[in-house]
Amino acid sequence: MIDANEKSSVIRMFHVHHNYGIQKALIDITLDIPKNDFVFITGPSGAGKTTLLKLLYLAEAVTEGQVLIDGMNLSRVPRKRIPLLRRKFGIIFQDYKLIANRTVFDNVSLVLEAAGKKRRLILKKVRSVLRLVGMEDRQTALPLSLSGGEQQRVAVARALVGDPKIILADEPTGSLDDDSAGIIMDLLKDVHIRGTTVIIATHDKDLIRKTGGRVLFLKEGRLDTSSFVEKDYDNSIF
Ligand SMILES: Nc1ncnc2c1ncn2[C@@H]1O[C@H](COP(=O)(O)OP(=O)(O)O)[C@@H](O)[C@H]1O
Ligand SMILES: [Mg+2]
Repeated sequence: MIDANEKSSVIRMFHVHHNYGIQKALIDITLDIPKNDFVFITGPSGAGKTTLLKLLYLAEAVTEGQVLIDGMNLSRVPRKRIPLLRRKFGIIFQDYKLIANRTVFDNVSLVLEAAGKKRRLILKKVRSVLRLVGMEDRQTALPLSLSGGEQQRVAVARALVGDPKIILADEPTGSLDDDSAGIIMDLLKDVHIRGTTVIIATHDKDLIRKTGGRVLFLKEGRLDTSSFVEKDYDNSIF
């Protein structure tokens, strides 16, 4: 059993398996992500990176094993508490997933409206995160009038607006040019420095080399090795 009193871990997995029918996507994953970690989950396409993130934000259920988030065992969380648990996460996707017919402001404010926050607080908070990502001048724009890099900055703002403990990013720079990717990674680094745990799934080795951080390797659904990559350090682990 996992020790639920382990204070320094924000996420723990213990012998986790995930199957899609007969397809084994994750096999016997045991890992520990400390609070305020900045960690990459990497490995080739099909290795199970997206599935691992989905287990964390409860888009998929674990087939076998245990997941603890902030000391809460997911298998023991009552259904009605799942929305609360999801609010611990801010999630960023490769394809931004902004609502096309809503403005930049609305895409970000919806998170707080769903959480029942007061109008005045919503205004203040949304403006502050849009300023943080450099999109305060585009509040009334519709997503498709923005570049990919700008759309992803709005998605980062949306992920941050609820003050999540953990940011999950699934190939966040996968559709971006190098400059836009650099801006997104700098934002994620800032978020980390301000005290949030950041977990980034990517197959992009150059991105990891450029950014630096702890790296967890997945290979055919199994956790391979774990190492630390310094920024700009051409490490032999790849
Ligand atoms: N919804 C699904 N139904 C069936 N198989 C899936 C589904 N999603 C992913 N898989 C399979 O699970 C494995 C891991 O996929 P995924 O987690 O998306 O890997 P990655 O993000 O590393 O590319 C792959 O073999 C993939 O084909
Ligand atoms: Mg994936």
